[in-house]
Amino acid sequence: MTVVAVDGPVGSGKSTVARRVAACLGYVYLDTGAMYRAVGLLATEAGVALDDEEAVVTLARSAGLHFDGDGRLFAGGRDVSDAIRTLEMGAAASRVSALPGVRELLVEEQRRIAGSADIVMEGRDIGTVVFPDAAVKVYLTARPEVRAARRAAELRAKGDQVDEAQVLAALLERDRRDSTRAVAPLRRSADAVELDTSGMTLDEVVEAVAGIARGRAAP
Ligand code: DC
Repeated sequence: MTVVAVDGPVGSGKSTVARRVAACLGYVYLDTGAMYRAVGLLATEAGVALDDEEAVVTLARSAGLHFDGDGRLFAGGRDVSDAIRTLEMGAAASRVSALPGVRELLVEEQRRIAGSADIVMEGRDIGTVVFPDAAVKVYLTARPEVRAARRAAELRAKGDQVDEAQVLAALLERDRRDSTRAVAPLRRSADAVELDTSGMTLDEVVEAVAGIARGRAAP
């Protein structure tokens, strides 16, 4: 089993890169941020306070989160893949992800999903907490303005009205919360390869990460 851990802040290119690297290597792909987003969505819809740990954990436990074969995320029978892709749900995910009980539950689920498969898993704590012994660890970064421009383009592509300054402010706030929380904060694992993707094309980043993975994966 080979785990490729891809961590980094908002808009560093993790999701697109991790998905493409998984396709390139023939590995399973897991977007752990989607799971925190789904919990944030369900809590918001249920009117549960996002810092009410007991209530959010109860909700998460009964949510029946699962990915189908195409990587779409379901909560019970409902496909939540599109509803979780908003600025608001990014912020909600960041808040519920600071709750230790939520992390415990989702990390356990992430390890279960990985099972014994070769997998590319992306998030904030994959190389530090979920799979500290991962064979391959990559930490993606990019300048905040570059990350905000990428995230704004993504939101625009799906028809949302966006103000780039607002996207940048939301992103910096999320970075601050994700990297200062008490449990499993966002940080580069000491043994991760750090890549600043600011001046790189997507193809270059995918090639670099796949190359690192090919060099380190168990034969
Ligand atoms: O990667 P993303 O933007 O979809 O993640 C949404 C939020 O979920 C992020 O702000 C922090 C949280 N998260 C986390 O705490 N740990 C992970 N492994 C993945 C995401």
